[in-house]
Amino acid sequence: MTTLEQQPTAAGSGAAATAKFAAARVSTDTPPERLAAIATDVLQALGRIIDDHGITYPEYRVLKQWLIDVGEYGEWPLWLDVFVEHNIEEVAYRGHSGTKGSIEGPYYVADTPRLPAVSTLPMRTDEQGTPLVFAGQVRDLEGAPLPGATIEIWHADAQGYYSHFAPNVPDGILRGTVEVDEQGRFAITTVRPAPYQIPTDGPTGWFIEKAGWHPWRPAHLHLMVKAPDKRTITTQLYFVGGDWVDDDVASAVKPELILRPTADTDGVEHVDYDFVLDPA
Ligand code: DHB
Ligand code: FE
Repeated sequence: MTTLEQQPTAAGSGAAATAKFAAARVSTDTPPERLAAIATDVLQALGRIIDDHGITYPEYRVLKQWLIDVGEYGEWPLWLDVFVEHNIEEVAYRGHSGTKGSIEGPYYVADTPRLPAVSTLPMRTDEQGTPLVFAGQVRDLEGAPLPGATIEIWHADAQGYYSHFAPNVPDGILRGTVEVDEQGRFAITTVRPAPYQIPTDGPTGWFIEKAGWHPWRPAHLHLMVKAPDKRTITTQLYFVGGDWVDDDVASAVKPELILRPTADTDGVEHVDYDFVLDPA
């Protein structure tokens, strides 16, 4: 029987994402002059927008309440990763020539169990979704295989929910750290994820609905590929023809990141994708 507590909620996935993020206590050595220059530009841009749109006191007060609500629901990781992270990612990988990156999103979990090059991701005995064999090779810019590489993979289940962030999915499901073989190759068996819907019952969802937008991301695999002396790439792969591939709420799809799986006679989908890493 499904109880109310087992239903994923915005407050539940938001709180889990915030707890995970806050536990890391990130910091930078941004100098005060750079901080001041950025803050000045942000405030000036905001001032211009207020002026251009003639923003009213009631609108200002609603904004204040909404900002408070996003924090109380723990949804800042969700909101920022959907609407802002794609710009950060583009700047971070300027001039980079290996595999294209994409946003990390709020649902990465570090230190997932190590799996051999040919493996099946942890899944429930009755895991729903089309079986998918995702295979390929990790190489450097010159085409040399990178046998020391690891591929961290995580993705939603066939209902669009992520383990560790939705109470109805057991921890560890559809996540792993795959160690490639001596030729840099891997073959990971999993199931096709469903499109992901930003939780609609919290302040990020209210914001999207009030604006008349939609809350969907196309189905995607998350990958973080690492190798000694190479630049780590964080990316996502999408499925050709899938819903929302052309209209991702998080603006994180790139044409180079679209998979074209083929189904075998048993209904198992197969797709190859190679990763190319820049020097560190
Ligand atoms: C969000 C969720 C995702 O699965 C993702 O890949 C990016 C963003 C989010 O809810 O913010
Ligand atoms: Fe995701």
